[in-house]
Amino acid sequence: MSLIKWSTVESPEIRIGNRTLSSRYFLSPLAGYTQHAFRVALRRLGGVGLCTTDLVLASHLLAGSRKSKALLKTSSADRPLTVQIFGGVTEELVKAARWLETAGYEAVDLNMGCPMAKINGSGGGARIMCSPEKACQMVADVVDAVSLPVTVKMRLGWDRDSITAPLLAREFEQAGVAAITIHGRTRNQGFGGSVDLDGIRQTVEAVQEIPVIGNGDVCTVEDAFRMREETGCEAVSIGRGAMMDPWIFRKIEMTLKGDQPVEEPDREEQIAFLEHHFRLMIDHYDNYGCQLIRKFAAWYGARLGIPEDLEDRLRRLESADEFQEIVNQIRERHGERESSVPTALVKTPNGPVERW
Ligand SMILES: Cc1cc2nc3c(=O)[nH]c(=O)nc-3n(C[C@H](O)[C@H](O)[C@H](O)COP(=O)(O)O)c2cc1C
Repeated sequence: MSLIKWSTVESPEIRIGNRTLSSRYFLSPLAGYTQHAFRVALRRLGGVGLCTTDLVLASHLLAGSRKSKALLKTSSADRPLTVQIFGGVTEELVKAARWLETAGYEAVDLNMGCPMAKINGSGGGARIMCSPEKACQMVADVVDAVSLPVTVKMRLGWDRDSITAPLLAREFEQAGVAAITIHGRTRNQGFGGSVDLDGIRQTVEAVQEIPVIGNGDVCTVEDAFRMREETGCEAVSIGRGAMMDPWIFRKIEMTLKGDQPVEEPDREEQIAFLEHHFRLMIDHYDNYGCQLIRKFAAWYGARLGIPEDLEDRLRRLESADEFQEIVNQIRERHGERESSVPTALVKTPNGPVERW
């Protein structure tokens, strides 16, 4: 299997623009989940090549809104990091990219993949893929405005009758983009169906030199290698799979190094991760961290087999003291509920994609 080929002949490192990243397996942004605290907790487990912030609206960034400041929060433990921006107005994207460069951020990613109506309505996200000329000009203007590496994250196209990713990838490379991440679904697919590895492969084949990063439905080490094998992509970005199994990057790294057996984290290590994540939330966001951790209750509940009543308390958490009490009980009541990691835990919008 090509895994053997990769682990013996391929460097684990990858170059994107002026950056050398130590692993080809990246965390995909999941707005509302992959904040600073989660990224730092995840990085400590090992094997993560790159993290990206949740998408930041360029006009909000320029206005210095509270929300965008929270999204831009980072620290020395949160490297390497790319900031993802979006918007339908080129001028704003250019200014936002310049602002990020001056503020010392390392790289900019342009979101051209988000399927949400409120984002597409403003001409941002996946909507831009419908206007290839505008998209290319927008990308070229941002690339020309900064010396930071500029990357693009996009879907295969708007719908299956307009698969624009290969064409756009080729044009973006000419415009000077350092890498492209491609989620192998169309905008109309939303998060439904399965990822089209062939579509990703066509995008990989459309570019000359820049790395293409494959994305979508990677939940296990085997999925990550299959993504590379079947698409020829140079790196893989993992979103929901990293929420379900934050150890996935470490497992990939161990597998590539030939360290066997690749062990699952034991229960104590999983609880320690929850505690570390929460401590970072409080350090970064004070008591607001209690609200932010609530979103993770279902995931931690399933992953750790937390009894339903404790999971429910985590979902309504008010204070750090209460958190400690819950964790103590999680330790004591070990084994009351089977742990499982159903994919549906990270909520994706449902219903007709036009109404998202
Ligand atoms: C809750 C949620 C939030 C997301 N937020 C972002 C985002 O801020 N920026 C972005 O480029 N993609 C975002 N995505 C898309 C993911 O990065 C990724 O492309 C998609 O989930 C497919 O990869 P996965 O199957 O590994 O999760 C989001 C997806 C979900 C489910």
